Amino acid sequence: MKIGEAIIKRRSVRKYQSQPVPRELIGQVLEAATLAPSGKNAQPWEFIVLEGQEKDTIADMMEAGAEQLEAMSGSSGSVRNSARIIREAPVVIMVYNPRKREGAGPLQQVLWTVDTQSVGAAIQNLLLKAVELGLGSVWICNVLVAREQISTWLGREDEMIAAVALGWPAEEPAARPRKPWQQVTQWGRG
Ligand SMILES: Cc1cc2nc3c(=O)[nH]c(=O)nc-3n(C[C@H](O)[C@H](O)[C@H](O)COP(=O)(O)O)c2cc1C
Repeated sequence: MKIGEAIIKRRSVRKYQSQPVPRELIGQVLEAATLAPSGKNAQPWEFIVLEGQEKDTIADMMEAGAEQLEAMSGSSGSVRNSARIIREAPVVIMVYNPRKREGAGPLQQVLWTVDTQSVGAAIQNLLLKAVELGLGSVWICNVLVAREQISTWLGREDEMIAAVALGWPAEEPAARPRKPWQQVTQWGRG
């Protein structure tokens, strides 16, 4: 598959078949992730592959987080739907930045922004490789509502970035609308 085709075909998939994903394929998407560029080649990413009951624990913690949000503000947005996806997808990959976010000075802010962009590039590589392999995926930041509970349970003291659900798709979502590139681009200072 050409890269342009993968970019066009990629969708956030939120319904999955129950068949497991072979570890070999999980390895391939993770390898693609690690081929992403990163600031100073720091490669500020680590992945935790969860399946079965372990995955369900993440969903339980998100639902507890949703309950708290609902009690506080009357709504938990799309958190419960994301928890459902995590329960139903056969594989969930937790993405962490192993470089602790220390200090709040301007240099730390810059380093943190650089790292976050690097991890984003890795996640996008992962999603595109999944398309090539016929797998569905969705990038899930709603895990962050339970970041402390999940990180404690995983024994992580570093920074949770996101989760990616992965599996054989059980839906073919239509393309979500996009602003045309001309609308979001300015040539020169204008
Ligand atoms: C940083 C980021 C966080 C996201 N978090 C979630 C999430 O928590 N739950 C979810 O269902 N989708 C999540 N998405 C998927 C977006 O909703 C989706 O990419 C967007 O609606 C465009 O649809 P498409 O991916 O099918 O093109 C996230 C995407 C990104 C890039």
